[in-house]
Amino acid sequence: MAVKYSGKSADSRIDPQQPAPKSPTAGSKILKSPTDVRPGLLKQQETDDDRRLDNTIRPHTFQEYIGQQALRESLDISLKAAQNRGEPLDHLLLYGPPGLGKTTLAMVMAREMNTDIQITAAPALERPRDIIGILMSLQPGSVLFIDEIHRLNKVTEEILYPALEDFTLDRTIGKGQSAKILRVPLPRFTLIGATTKAGAISSPLRDRFGMVCRLNFYTEVELMRIIHRSAGILKVNIEDLAARTIASRSRGTPRIANRLLRRVRDYCQVKHADQKMILQALAEEALDLFDIDPAGLDPTDRLLLKTMIHNFNGGPVGLDTLAAAIGEDPRTLEDVYEPYLLQSGLLHRTPRGRMVTPMALQHLKIDVGNVSLAVQQALPTFTD
Ligand SMILES: Nc1ncnc2c1ncn2[C@@H]1O[C@H](COP(=O)(O)OP(=O)(O)O)[C@@H](O)[C@H]1O
Ligand SMILES: [Mg+2]
Repeated sequence: MAVKYSGKSADSRIDPQQPAPKSPTAGSKILKSPTDVRPGLLKQQETDDDRRLDNTIRPHTFQEYIGQQALRESLDISLKAAQNRGEPLDHLLLYGPPGLGKTTLAMVMAREMNTDIQITAAPALERPRDIIGILMSLQPGSVLFIDEIHRLNKVTEEILYPALEDFTLDRTIGKGQSAKILRVPLPRFTLIGATTKAGAISSPLRDRFGMVCRLNFYTEVELMRIIHRSAGILKVNIEDLAARTIASRSRGTPRIANRLLRRVRDYCQVKHADQKMILQALAEEALDLFDIDPAGLDPTDRLLLKTMIHNFNGGPVGLDTLAAAIGEDPRTLEDVYEPYLLQSGLLHRTPRGRMVTPMALQHLKIDVGNVSLAVQQALPTFTD
């Protein structure tokens, strides 16, 4: 399987398992996504370090791809059915928070289909010729992977519609009154789109995907399996309880689990060079030093919850007011900090604003007397 990267996208990386990428089609400027801003170890987006190392631990087959059981099974069936019919797979949209394995899954699918994959990201498809160049270079049955597909511009989207539906490309030849539209046939291919924001995709584009699939956060047990697998590849010995400690602080996200594993390994190498194995106590020591608490919260998460409790009696408080109080941009708060707090039941979104939950009070060891009646009234619901 050949992997080709197009454009300076988040995914234009060197994959040591694969042939070197061909020269980028576009040297276009990449806009920073608002979700790129979270600092530190819990950043969900890829860092350069992740990029170099994750590619060596990226699963290559369905067999190696851990978790997302239901999704894997249904994709496996669609894939086999398409193969039996001798057709390429329907266009597929993968959505879910960063670091859950969308790019990995697209690469696994291409490998399972035994076909080439061309990888790009929406910010690299600025000009019409960027997408046209890629479409014209596709082989029959190829997979085209477009990351951050919600960020495609209108013109590019419109070029994609006939390509996706009828496998044709409408090219305008000439200018003004003498302009003609030339319909160029394309090979049948499969588009795999990935996004963290399914809601931001225009409905005409979404309608052109035969399958729309969501990736979920991973359970602790699944993350432990991922950590053990990565440790094996990195030739690191780790005891099961240490893997559990790292898994429990990884916010349900394989990218974070792999990153924490590497940092814990570094810590043990330097501070406990005599130890042949990462023990639970050492993993805890390292993660405490990195200020990642047992719930996987970092100092900003805790500041957010504590500000809500101390300044706003636990809420309800509006997004803008809260953002101003902790000196963050409201969108960053919403896109980067809130999802995990909501998902883990520490924060609650109501029509009147954000509220902390009793679980957050328990986690931060704050007495229930410090919060508003609204939060206190939610108590029975959450402890039931
Ligand atoms: N299901 C999985 N099993 C094992 N490792 C995984 C899995 N999903 C993701 N990973 C690891 O996490 C890293 C991030 O995954 P990636 O596919 O880049 O996430 P996304 O594209 O959703 O942001 C990968 O490099 C891979 O090592
Ligand atoms: Mg990705």
